[in-house]
Amino acid sequence: MDIEIIRSLVKDVEGKIIDYRRDFHAHPELSWKEERTSKVIESVLSGLGFENIRRGFDSTGTGVTADITGKANGPVIAIRADIDALPVDEAVDEPWRSSCAGVMHACGHDAHAAILLGVAHVLAKIKDSIPGTVRLIFQPGEESGIHSGAKQLVSEGVLDGVDAICGLHVWATLEAGKVGFRKGPILASADIWEIEVKGKGGHGSRPHEAVDPSIAAATLITTAQTIVSREVDPREAVVFSVGKIDCGTAPNIIPEKARLAGNLRTTSPVIRDDIPGRLKRIGEGIGAALRCDVKVDFIPVYPVTVNDGDLVDLFVEVAGDLVGKDALEEMSIEMGSEDFSFYQQKIPGVLFFLGMGDPVKGTDAQHHSPDFKTNEDVLADGTALLTALALSFLDRA
Ligand code: NI
Repeated sequence: MDIEIIRSLVKDVEGKIIDYRRDFHAHPELSWKEERTSKVIESVLSGLGFENIRRGFDSTGTGVTADITGKANGPVIAIRADIDALPVDEAVDEPWRSSCAGVMHACGHDAHAAILLGVAHVLAKIKDSIPGTVRLIFQPGEESGIHSGAKQLVSEGVLDGVDAICGLHVWATLEAGKVGFRKGPILASADIWEIEVKGKGGHGSRPHEAVDPSIAAATLITTAQTIVSREVDPREAVVFSVGKIDCGTAPNIIPEKARLAGNLRTTSPVIRDDIPGRLKRIGEGIGAALRCDVKVDFIPVYPVTVNDGDLVDLFVEVAGDLVGKDALEEMSIEMGSEDFSFYQQKIPGVLFFLGMGDPVKGTDAQHHSPDFKTNEDVLADGTALLTALALSFLDRA
């Protein structure tokens, strides 16, 4: 497909993409509550003549998927956009500001949904020349942690028959006009650990008759850090954070129990599998030494987002043609996470970053902050990049 044709088709639809974005932004919906958003998407797609539109994939209730096929029995590529908003109270005052107090599109998923509708418009115009099938996935629940929308859709077969998947994230800390890519790990895993320390409560004046779980908990907090500092290869990135400490009721009581919880992030799938065993060993060892029962639980949430090397090569080639080689920026690994990683555990995938930071426009505010603001000037590039990447993949597959 000629890059110039894609560019001009995207230009024709740019105004619509901006309108969709503003509409989604004004009506944000939290994870798994994307009712209105899904209805809007469904009606746009059916107006464009898409077939087998599935609302609320199988059991999800929200989200939309649809296919468009040019050449039957050809290869299949999926493009994914997440569509949910966040419990954030918007501070930006624009005519399309959130109409729902306490809920805001503070991560740019409104832009992602609008861009994918833009892709749908372009593909509908060139349907007969699509060398295979493109599956559009408007995914609910990206922000919902263990209830991840991607995990749910994958378990219900959204990738059946799909050869590869691509997606983008608008990125406030990357300058507008730049496009960020990386081969291999690009975003970290994010998992939860929970520890319960059980001792024997008693009077603060008689510690010898009690078993104090607070001492074991405190020892655990500091000793667990040695997994990162002493046990893992220092060239690897690992974050072990304690986010919650719950222990005791009054100054003169030795508590019965202590509960700790926190976050583990790493960019290595191997280390991710390895750490629960280490944490268990340290927890139980400290428990034995200090006479407490220690129970360690590990709750896997998001895997490492790992980009497929060949797809990144293809992306760099396509993006170089579209936005110019100087606009391409090789990213360093981010310790944030994405449920796009669940798709990549099944099939090759590439997630890239669409830079939108511009201090003059205020579009460089942090993701998830009340000041977050989408730079609408980059939406057309995002649409062209996803369209061209999908078509080039189908062409060569
Ligand atoms: Ni996001």
